[in-house]
Amino acid sequence: MVQTPGRSNCLIRLHEESISPALHDRLSALVDSGTLASDNATLAKLSAWFTGEFGSAAAYLTPSCTDALELSALLAQLGPEDEVIVPAYTFATTASAYLWRTVALRFADCLAERPCVDLTTIAPLVTERTKVVVVMHYAGIAADMDPIVAWCREQGLLLVEDAAHAMGSRYRGRPLGALGDFGTLSFHHTKALSCGEGGCLLVRDAEWIDRADILYEKGTNRKGFYQGDVPRYEWMELGSSYVMSSLQSAALAAQLEVWPQLLEKRRTLWSQYEQLLANGAEKGWFALPSVPQWAEANGSHYYLVTHDEVTRDRLRQYLADHGIESAFHYGALHRSRMWASRNPSPELPHAEHFSASLLRIPLHPLLTNDQQERIAEAVLSFFKRA
Ligand SMILES: Cc1ncc(COP(=O)(O)O)c(C=O)c1O
Repeated sequence: MVQTPGRSNCLIRLHEESISPALHDRLSALVDSGTLASDNATLAKLSAWFTGEFGSAAAYLTPSCTDALELSALLAQLGPEDEVIVPAYTFATTASAYLWRTVALRFADCLAERPCVDLTTIAPLVTERTKVVVVMHYAGIAADMDPIVAWCREQGLLLVEDAAHAMGSRYRGRPLGALGDFGTLSFHHTKALSCGEGGCLLVRDAEWIDRADILYEKGTNRKGFYQGDVPRYEWMELGSSYVMSSLQSAALAAQLEVWPQLLEKRRTLWSQYEQLLANGAEKGWFALPSVPQWAEANGSHYYLVTHDEVTRDRLRQYLADHGIESAFHYGALHRSRMWASRNPSPELPHAEHFSASLLRIPLHPLLTNDQQERIAEAVLSFFKRA
């Protein structure tokens, strides 16, 4: 078999996308239109859909979730003295989006039972310089948001939800991404809803809209110009290029047509894994995702947590030998070369444990029940023979 860069030769892949039949029609219509210019009509429809779905004041479709995070950092008007609290166990750009604006990050540890921060891991990090707190909902499983929202309000801090994994997940019935001042979604091909690459910034309160409109459009009041509010547009503030392309928005609109089915399939696979692997968890071979009673997850991805790194890496190799792709996830950011080579690196034992011991196994809309049973059997047989 030929090895494609970035793709493994495993027979059961970690991620696969289910492409909506409407995608072909949407892309053909775009090509037939004779222009690949930003498709403002589709963007307006998508933005209205996300605004309604999340009950937000506004939704800005962006080229990636990273861009949505950077847009939130611009909105926060961080100065070099301001501090930002970010999770240690997350993707690099959850932190880098803010590090472009300030030098002071404080990394919060996760809970022992789940790779997610909560108020007990955030609150001790606050100082008089703290301006923003970022929470990330790992695997679409909600952090305990009510205490965090109330505390941020009380302290006068801006709250950002990195909901990259969490499209379709809920906290006490409310959609994740809609609870903080800002929420960010990812439509990267590894995420529950994908248009290849893409993102969205959700803005909870209308007071942010005027500035967000300007920052989104490269720091200009082009939106006002399009709406006929001003005779010409000009540079107003330091913004950047955050508008989703017409190709991305066509793909996202097509994928949204099958979103309810994608979400249901993911949730079914998730609960099947819980049953198929329960026995191994009961025996203490590994831990399964712990889902608190307030969380309704979206089946973004499934994972196991082994006792240590050696076991995790051996399991990964064993699965690969059986034609099953699996993957670890984040290296804890406070230990990264980028951070630790320049800054003191705190001890954050839970984030470090998840970096060493978490293994993602395939969960995607094209996974069949037979394949899922094969995966669970392979996982259990690895531990039985150990
Ligand atoms: C938690 C988290 N935040 C942000 C991102 C960035 O998303 P994007 O690739 O859409 O920029 C990712 C990507 O994997 C992520 O896992």
